[in-house]
Amino acid sequence: MNALAAASVIRLLQTNPNAVLGLATGSTPLGMYRLLVEAYQVGKIDFSLVTTFNLDEYIGLNADHPQSYHAYMRTHLFRHVHIHPERTHIPNGTADDPDFECRRYEALIAGSNGIDLQLLGIGANGHIGFNEPGADPCGRTHVAELTESTRKANARFFTGGEDAPRYAITMGLGTILTHSKRILLLAAGAHKAEAVYRMLKEKVSNDCPASYLQTHPMVEIVIDQGAASMLLETAHEK
Ligand code: GLP
Repeated sequence: MNALAAASVIRLLQTNPNAVLGLATGSTPLGMYRLLVEAYQVGKIDFSLVTTFNLDEYIGLNADHPQSYHAYMRTHLFRHVHIHPERTHIPNGTADDPDFECRRYEALIAGSNGIDLQLLGIGANGHIGFNEPGADPCGRTHVAELTESTRKANARFFTGGEDAPRYAITMGLGTILTHSKRILLLAAGAHKAEAVYRMLKEKVSNDCPASYLQTHPMVEIVIDQGAASMLLETAHEK
């Protein structure tokens, strides 16, 4: 999975060194980031002209908070490669005016000539970014309230006795669908099987926000056996 996903990014950066990447966080893409760092270290790819936009950031966590997505990106990618900080973009979770920050972030993406490859994970409830069930399919970057199940799932990262944040700034479904030229979604583990099944097989609906990817012309999905298990079961039944 990691090799397939990394190969897609490596190919893009080799053919277009100025590429704009949409980046995702969470545990799923960690192996892929590791392979990208290795590819950089052996001189296969260069990040010096690359621009990045992250999907989301928690409200209330500053860039130095270890569980912020700023820290995640520094730890797993940015500090290992030569990338210009001014070309890396992540919503500011401690902006005084979060709504203004959302508009600023959306305008930056809109001014970027499009995201060449948007990486995505998927939540067990079908969320992408932090677009939870019920999210506006045309929504732009906005403040989202996380569901209890998402906060529980992400609580594993907040080990210091603090609660997982309740709000986040996230690209909207509309942002992802209109600005991404290509999308690469990764999912691993049986706990993602239902979300993957619903994303691909159910009618498009914001009950499963990821199902809106069915409306995008260029989506690649890389999943492991566990995440594919419901698809495989129904294929065998037929
Ligand atoms: C978080 C992130 C998503 C991510 C999802 C799955 O809530 N906002 O972008 O895709 O969780 O995370 P994991 O890969 O850890 O299962």
